[in-house]
Amino acid sequence: MSNRYDNMKYVRCGRSGLLLPQISLGLWQSFGDTYPLQNSRNMLHTAFDLGITHFDIANNYGPPPGAAEKNFGRIYREDFIQHRDELIISTKAGYPMWDGPYGDFGSRKYLVASLDQSLKRTGLDYFDIFYHHRPDPETPLEETMTALDHIVRSGKALYVGISSYNVEQTKAAAAMLKHLGTPCLIHQPVYNMFNRWVEDGLLATLEEEGIGCIPFSTLAQGILSGRYLDGIPADSRIGMGSIFLREDSLQESTLNKVRKLKEIADSRNQTLAQLAITWIRRKPQITTVLMGASKPSQIEEIVASLSHPALTPEELAKIEQILASK
Ligand SMILES: NC(=O)c1ccc[n+]([C@@H]2O[C@H](COP(=O)([O-])OP(=O)(O)OC[C@H]3O[C@@H](n4cnc5c(N)ncnc54)[C@H](OP(=O)(O)O)[C@@H]3O)[C@@H](O)[C@H]2O)c1
Repeated sequence: MSNRYDNMKYVRCGRSGLLLPQISLGLWQSFGDTYPLQNSRNMLHTAFDLGITHFDIANNYGPPPGAAEKNFGRIYREDFIQHRDELIISTKAGYPMWDGPYGDFGSRKYLVASLDQSLKRTGLDYFDIFYHHRPDPETPLEETMTALDHIVRSGKALYVGISSYNVEQTKAAAAMLKHLGTPCLIHQPVYNMFNRWVEDGLLATLEEEGIGCIPFSTLAQGILSGRYLDGIPADSRIGMGSIFLREDSLQESTLNKVRKLKEIADSRNQTLAQLAITWIRRKPQITTVLMGASKPSQIEEIVASLSHPALTPEELAKIEQILASK
């Protein structure tokens, strides 16, 4: 018998029947074709053995787009297929995926076709969660939400979620989905010490609506791990040439804050990455923290933070001061 379920806690996702692990693993940038497949395999095993039962993907994750689903599918078929009923696997559509007018945004045509492609690439029979990846300013929201409802009714996904919808869009989407009989399970917003937009109404809305919250980029893509305090390591996201995180994100004022935050982490015998996760988890609306990783040890480090003490009011006040400083 495995002991993978001994330590991880599982949290109810909003007002649903689904429990998610306190930490989930995202496959955005380091499961594409530029990282060795064996490394991806090791990370998935490390995560699952620590009780991480939720893997988050999207149609466009790579590089190149589609590669994360393809690589995940291969590892899943070789190593995890017998565990299918122990896993929650999500994918999304909403960003550019193929040429022409039907490979982007939020039409029923795009969402249904993209999900069919995701099922082929991964070899899964169904996804547990299917997301609309970002709001579409032109497609009527009714069309997108009706497509999500259709997807669940067709058996291709069990639950649906939305990502990066603002408060008004979230309320409207939640109302439509409720009316259709396919409640919105979960919202996936960016949230970290440098980007706190969710505190301005979104978290309260999710609580009211009974929708779970799975924040992403909680380490600001690695900046809040202190990884860049002494230059750019060759094996880091910036060092590996990511198009989503570049050297110009490393402003001196940002790095100064990171240095000061690290002093608080040191005083708590935590790493800075662990402090950043403890800080996110102070909000009761957070169902699970969606982490990214480029190596198994990072997953072990983040999961270890789950047993660390909560931040004291004094520590929280110090963090506020640092974040407010110039
Ligand atoms: N819905 C959306 O629009 C959206 C957008 C973005 C992401 N996401 C999802 O959210 C997931 C997480 O996003 P993210 O990758 O930006 O998250 P993140 O947790 O902010 O950044 C992950 C990166 O931080 C570094 N890191 C992680 N743990 C570390 C540790 N213990 N010590 C030092 N460095 C550490 C690694 O970078 P190195 O590569 O430098 O080692 C890792 O790749 C994605 O995989 C994806 O599933 C969703």
